[in-house]
Amino acid sequence: MKNIAVLVSGGGSNLQAIIDAIESGNITNANISIIVSSSDKAFALERAKRHNIKRVVLKKSDFIDTEALDKALVEVLNNHNIDLVVLAGYLRILGKEVVSKYSNRIINVHPSLIPAFCGDGYYGLKVHQAALEYGAKVSGATVHFVNEITDGGAIIMQKAVYIEDDDTPETLQKRIMTEAEWKILPKTIDLLCNDKIEINSRKVRIKVD
Ligand code: GRF
Repeated sequence: MKNIAVLVSGGGSNLQAIIDAIESGNITNANISIIVSSSDKAFALERAKRHNIKRVVLKKSDFIDTEALDKALVEVLNNHNIDLVVLAGYLRILGKEVVSKYSNRIINVHPSLIPAFCGDGYYGLKVHQAALEYGAKVSGATVHFVNEITDGGAIIMQKAVYIEDDDTPETLQKRIMTEAEWKILPKTIDLLCNDKIEINSRKVRIKVD
């Protein structure tokens, strides 16, 4: 059984997709041991409470500096014997200590087809705004390993979503969440927790039986 930590900051719809997938058996060999939120106002915390999942808030304003916050995060992960860290709408940049200690054991879901519309400053609706302004015909979601570069880690899984002529950032965001994020994030977690994924430099391969 793999112990998962899910890091959140907002609505928690991706967290909900993970919870639902575990409860329905679409994710096996996995247990959410702890949910860490960067905000005490995140609705993701309410979702965790409804499913009796342990949760903790690590707010920047509660720490003297980011180093202290990162140390607290490492301590929480250590105390829960975490095998896999999942960033599900987590808005903070992880400190070097966490990224190096959990190399190839931290994944993130980004709401575009990386390397498009990603990197510093591309989060939430801004991603979809950029895709629409560019006139892109297709966008989607990416699940990738986390390294020291924002949205720069090796890509694990992607799913494309067509952009409609009358899309707004909000309608595009909703479709990408529904049709892509909420599918490929749980699927990736199941594969990782069942040791079905191997990585060689930037090449990630799903092992077939
Ligand atoms: C999602 O669009 C995700 O791709 C991005 O942040 C958003 C979080 O949404 N990283 P939620 O908190 O999972 O509902």
